[in-house]
Amino acid sequence: MMYDNNAAANVKAGIDKINFYTPNHYLNLVDLAKVRGVDPNKYLIGIGQSKMSVAALDQDIVAMAANAAEPMLSAEDRQQIGLLIVATESGIDQSKAAALFMQDLLKLTGNLRAIEIKEACYGATAGIQLACDYVRSHPGRKALVIASDIARYGLDTPGEVTQGAGAVAMLITSNPAILAIEPESIYESRSTGDFWRPNYSTVAFARGKFSEEIYVSMFEEVWGKAQRQGMANPETLQALLFHIPFSKMGRKGLRTLGNGKIAEADYTRLTERFERSIVYGKEVGNIYTGSIYLALLSLLENDESLKVGDRIGLYSYGSGSVAELYFGTLQPGYRQRLDAQAHRDLLDHRERLSMPEYEAMFSAQLVTDGSEQDLGRSDHSEAATHYLTGIKDHERQYR
Ligand code: CAA
Repeated sequence: MMYDNNAAANVKAGIDKINFYTPNHYLNLVDLAKVRGVDPNKYLIGIGQSKMSVAALDQDIVAMAANAAEPMLSAEDRQQIGLLIVATESGIDQSKAAALFMQDLLKLTGNLRAIEIKEACYGATAGIQLACDYVRSHPGRKALVIASDIARYGLDTPGEVTQGAGAVAMLITSNPAILAIEPESIYESRSTGDFWRPNYSTVAFARGKFSEEIYVSMFEEVWGKAQRQGMANPETLQALLFHIPFSKMGRKGLRTLGNGKIAEADYTRLTERFERSIVYGKEVGNIYTGSIYLALLSLLENDESLKVGDRIGLYSYGSGSVAELYFGTLQPGYRQRLDAQAHRDLLDHRERLSMPEYEAMFSAQLVTDGSEQDLGRSDHSEAATHYLTGIKDHERQYR
């Protein structure tokens, strides 16, 4: 059959299912502030975060990704997935895609393309856009996009308070139940040195203040273009989501629309909805490429006033840097697809780490000398059905 460009443009594509997983250990940031000799309000208000999830060695990005996707996939979904993308900047292998581990762990068919995407925190958005194009041209098939990351800056560094760990899984389909994504969007790439992680380092390097400047400047750029092209009318925009490395960062992006740049009523509405979008992220921390999708889930599960047909904007930013502003419309089935109680339980049932426990967990490393390693299991919760058991013959072993 010939591919029909016009027909593809008419197929509604977007997010049909969404779920997230975060490991079951967290650090309270007041505890961190006390030990680092910092006023806790700097973290709670200045950075805008209250807790951060900490991943033990057995919850690497593959295990977390599988745990995010497992509960939401039906037998039919598993048959119909033809594109499988894992977006991560915490990759576990230089060659084999994390998506291939997923194909095995999630019991998907072999009749699919499995790849890994990297562009810092923008990776999952690239994956979603590719996935939407895929289902527009193959409406009978589905795509699974999973964002999974562990944000690591190092002990006693300025970035330490902006760490976190978790994964967000999204099923992309035609006629989606949650969010139909518009085919046209505004994007921009600029090669910058704001944040990077060389192959030899287990922690990221960041020019923190510079990274904040680039984030904001690229937002202004894509927002301005979207306005000029008639895509970003604030009156009809019910919410605007941001990549949230920490909640203050998104707030700084949103504030560029304040001071009369858009009508006060619109700014107030977007600010109220922004507050709902950061509820989960404030307790999880930065999960890099999944952060904006955690914000989407947080908004949908913590805002009672949104309704079917509401238009939402998403500002995705990945250091290095790529930014994209795109839009979607809430679909009739969206409320039935959510499980706010399960996600609240996941966050509330985590174990609080003491500072020495956090530092030990952060410093633990997998062997790098080719020897074998057996790991204990850190998360016995129902949500953690997948975990890394160790390393054998240079390969990670999962169960
Ligand atoms: N009460 C209330 N607020 C306080 C306070 C107190 N007692 N003490 C300080 N603050 C405020 C400061 O005024 C400041 O507010 P503004 O940013 O609004 O000016 C805020 O707390 C942060 O304090 P500092 O300016 O002293 O900043 P810092 O040196 O501690 O570093 C950071 C902050 C640059 C964000 C650092 O945590 C960092 O480098 N993080 C990693 C990089 C990062 O996340 N960049 C974001 C953009 S890049 C990106 O988004 C991609 C990605 O995921 C990495």
